[in-house]
Parts: sequence; C-alpha cells; structure tokens
Amino acid sequence: MTQSAVHTNPREALARQFSDAFVALLRGAPNTDDQIMNERRVFEKLLETPSGEMRYDAPVTAPVCRVLPGMAAPGQDSSAHGDLLNVSLSLSEHAVWRNKYRARPEYAHLFENFAFCDFVGPDGWQGTEDVTLGLVLMGPHCFYPFHHHPARELYYVLSGTAEWAVDFQPPQVLEPGSWLLHQENQPHAMQTGHEPMLAVSAWRGDILSRSQFSTPYVGPAPTQMPSA
Ligand SMILES: [Fe+2]
Repeated sequence: MTQSAVHTNPREALARQFSDAFVALLRGAPNTDDQIMNERRVFEKLLETPSGEMRYDAPVTAPVCRVLPGMAAPGQDSSAHGDLLNVSLSLSEHAVWRNKYRARPEYAHLFENFAFCDFVGPDGWQGTEDVTLGLVLMGPHCFYPFHHHPARELYYVLSGTAEWAVDFQPPQVLEPGSWLLHQENQPHAMQTGHEPMLAVSAWRGDILSRSQFSTPYVGPAPTQMPSA
C-alpha cells in the first residue's frame, strides 16, 4: 500500500495517496504517549497490507460538505500533515459521505453538521476486513453527543480546533496535529466552536458494529457539551 504503482483510475490513485500519506504520518509525526505510539504502529501494519479488492461507488455529498471549500489547503506545506490535509481535501469531492440522521428530526443539527466517509474498509474503495480509514467532518457550533462502538479508534485532527471528551469527563481542546485514542466501547463526544473540524478516523477490531449513542435520549437531543 505504501508503494505507488501505475493506477488507471484517478480515485484509486487518490485512495492510495490518502493511505500512504496517513502511514507516513503514523511513522513520522512527533512521538506521542506510549498507548498512542503503540496504536500508530498497529495501524501502520494493518494499512500496509489491505486484504480486499478495490471498488468504486458514485460520490455522495452531505449538507456539511458546504464547509469544505472554506477549509484552506496548506499549499506549500510539504510536511506529512500538509500532505495528508491536501490529499484529504482533494478526495473529499469524490467521497461517499455518510450520515444516518436524515430520518430523525430530533437530530437535525447532526444531519446538517456531521458526516463521515471511509476510503479503506468494508464500505471503502479499498476493501478490508480488519481496519477502516476515513474522514470525519463537522460544521461549526456542532455537538456530537457521547457515543461508543466496539472498535478501537484512533483520531488525528487535520483542521479545526474543537473540544473532545471521553468517559463523560470535561472536554479537552485539541488542535490540528493532535492524536486521540478511544478504547473499545469508551464513550466519547465532540463539540466544535466557530470553525469546522476535519479529522482522520481509523478503526480496528470489530469494525462492522456501528456506533451508538451512549445515553438514550428522552426528549430533545442535547445540542452542546455538558459542562464539567
Ligand atoms: Fe468514535
């Protein structure tokens, strides 16, 4: 996966550029804490040897994609971070953006301000059985409530400073270049401020079970991070 070959489909080339750029970041970004360093090594191995075939679905947009044109490309930034942000923005117009909140009026703010896509994984262009790699996009002033999933999740913030919380604890502010690890079924939530947020999300383990909210709602869904 890290060695570029001759690609006849431009999306295949972009998908490989995306995975290669993320692997370069896993290898070359400044050291993080031991847990995240270990995950970086595990994901690096998983992404080097994708197990499935390539497939292509027609692009699907989402309401939150309106913020993408305003996300500045890093231009001449030749760092691993800049490379990954550049290829992510190039890929975004070809992506199959997903959002499961269309039919739920109580989550209208999530339908308007949240979407994700996978380029590697069972629903991605590069099929795999053991890892996913894609993007998460949130619009400004959006709260994604506490949720959890059986997969272990590694996040890397590409653009936008936002609040991230785990285990119902007070949030921490993460800037672009930050890593975050969610353990299996660990509740986590995100809150954007005045700017949108674009992050890379990678899953391993039980990647087929989807995310679900950690607290069932009675009445209107919450629209902002609970205070400490
Ligand atoms: Fe998650």
